[in-house]
Amino acid sequence: MKPLRIALTKGRLEKQAVELLTQAGIDCSMLADKKRKLIFQSEQQPVSFFLVKAVDVLTYVKHGAADIGIVGRDILLESSSSYYEMLDLEIGKCSFCLASTPDFDPTDYRRKTIATKYPNITAQYFREKGQDVEIIKIEGSVEIAPLLGLADAIVDIVETGATLHDNGLVIYEEMYPISARLIVGKAALKQKKVQIFNLIDELEQVIKEGVRK
Ligand code: PRP
Repeated sequence: MKPLRIALTKGRLEKQAVELLTQAGIDCSMLADKKRKLIFQSEQQPVSFFLVKAVDVLTYVKHGAADIGIVGRDILLESSSSYYEMLDLEIGKCSFCLASTPDFDPTDYRRKTIATKYPNITAQYFREKGQDVEIIKIEGSVEIAPLLGLADAIVDIVETGATLHDNGLVIYEEMYPISARLIVGKAALKQKKVQIFNLIDELEQVIKEGVRK
């Protein structure tokens, strides 16, 4: 049997995804002492993992180099790609927020400048509100943009709220809830249907039972 190739998002989501997959009976033991390795093949089951950046999960799945991807809904909302979204894994929970310094006035109708890693979601959000804004794309550490006068406010994901708090920013609006999703490539769903649905069944069971912490 050909291994099921799973693209995992590196970083924060990785640990929770590995815990969930382990609880669903998937051998993730080779990820325990991974050092700087990025590809892992189970010796016990036909399954392999790659660790990649969130947005690259979509690319690997789209091109069929991974069968399955585990990635945040933020990335799915921001990018247009070709995949099936199969399951809300209920991990990596956070939300999209509009945030700024305490003196920001969201009701001020002056044209605002918004810094964000998510220009498409931000544009859509303000379009729906009927507000014309200037969007500045930032790749990370978005919280400093209002502090340095680059933008009036930011749109970013907030998980614990610690980054906002430690930089003196406050939330003005919670926009959308986010959690990690399991996505499947179109070719993979045809070629590895049984393996994929078995995995989804196991994961659904774990999620339903709320076994994980
Ligand atoms: C994300 C996000 C916030 C932070 C929120 O950044 O962009 O900066 O996490 O998390 P918190 O509410 O738990 O503090 P990430 O850590 O991915 O780093 P980045 O800024 O380099 O993208």
